[in-house]
Amino acid sequence: MKFTTIALGSAISVAYAAVPGDRSQFAERATYAVVGKPEGFATGTTGGGSAACAIPSNVAELKTWLTDSTARCIVLDKEYNFKGTEGTTTETGCRPASNTCPGNGGQDAINKASWCTNGNAGAGVTSISVTYDTAGVAGINVRSNKSIIGVGSKGVIRGKGLRIANGAKNVIIQNIHITELNPQYIWGGDAITVDGADLVWVDHCKVSLIGRQMFVAGTGASNRVTLSNNEFDGSTSWSATCDGHHYWAIYLTGSSDLITMKNNYIHHTSGRSPKVGGNSLVHAVNNYWYANSGHAFDNGAGGMVVAEGNVFQNVVTPLLENAGQFFGSPSTSANMVCSTYLGHNCQLNSFGSSGTLGGTDTAFLANFKGKSIASASTASSSVTSLAGVGKI
Ligand SMILES: *[C@@H]1O[C@H](CO)[C@@H](O)[C@H](O)[C@H]1NC(C)=O
Repeated sequence: MKFTTIALGSAISVAYAAVPGDRSQFAERATYAVVGKPEGFATGTTGGGSAACAIPSNVAELKTWLTDSTARCIVLDKEYNFKGTEGTTTETGCRPASNTCPGNGGQDAINKASWCTNGNAGAGVTSISVTYDTAGVAGINVRSNKSIIGVGSKGVIRGKGLRIANGAKNVIIQNIHITELNPQYIWGGDAITVDGADLVWVDHCKVSLIGRQMFVAGTGASNRVTLSNNEFDGSTSWSATCDGHHYWAIYLTGSSDLITMKNNYIHHTSGRSPKVGGNSLVHAVNNYWYANSGHAFDNGAGGMVVAEGNVFQNVVTPLLENAGQFFGSPSTSANMVCSTYLGHNCQLNSFGSSGTLGGTDTAFLANFKGKSIASASTASSSVTSLAGVGKI
């Protein structure tokens, strides 16, 4: 038996009534609310605001609440497993050229947007039959004014991603683990997509075992986004680089996007961590990259990145290419240029058993002026113990 007390404001208290003589269940008493406020570009995001928090009873109710036009605080206190809810699909996909270890840790592909046949799968691509969980390939279209928060480390969405698009605004996703979106297949699904949105704050989430992108912003304007304190865990048994590391991690190629990445722990990836392009302005501050067997940043044409106060530990290539503009906070004296535009001197990055970052472009720093800019601390490994679920 469960009593639910709706408190004034945004939190609710849930008390589990004990059977006579059993007091242990009172320990589960909890109050739910978004913890803290976003820093950086998504400052001002309020999500469900003062809406009372409530726990959806199953995947169908979760989907209804995420997609309706009511401001909500949605609390996940268990796993919501979407696998099987839309059946499975068997069709022709491919074994791309990148899969040099078929059946032994490689990643095959679904033929999304003709990827298998338009040249992107490389020379020597072969057709194969693929069977995947249908729910994984399309995210839930989250509407405006929602907070989605997890309890402890119990809030898990398995087998389906979240998509904030088509004008949706003001969404907070906090302390949720999104996992298992057809990780064996490229195009198996994206965990969090932002495409034509504004004010999105993703905080203290974990993303693991995803087929395609862990986070993707593009190609429509995503406007103001903050990714903070998240764990992007690329460990996988299906790697496009055949080495247990996920290649498709974070993809920031939107139009006019402002993305703050602060205090994220990005580990065991092998590429696109992130790829930047479109005309995205990215402030990557105090993140921790670890065990990256390929590249962290790939800055395509139009991408504008300030990277400061980050740790690169065992990252083979911190910056693959810079076809856009990149300020890698190269020296204490050079970093003073930041104060005029970001409100502080940029912090040095730290490198352990890693390649170099480079990046001395400064002309684009003026784009930060007047925006909400995250503060910067000295590069630190403490990120690894503070990022992810169950840490707030
Ligand atoms: C979201 O909340 C704001 C502020 O209360 C309101 O103006 C707006 O209409 C809401 N948006 C939707 C789609 O409900």
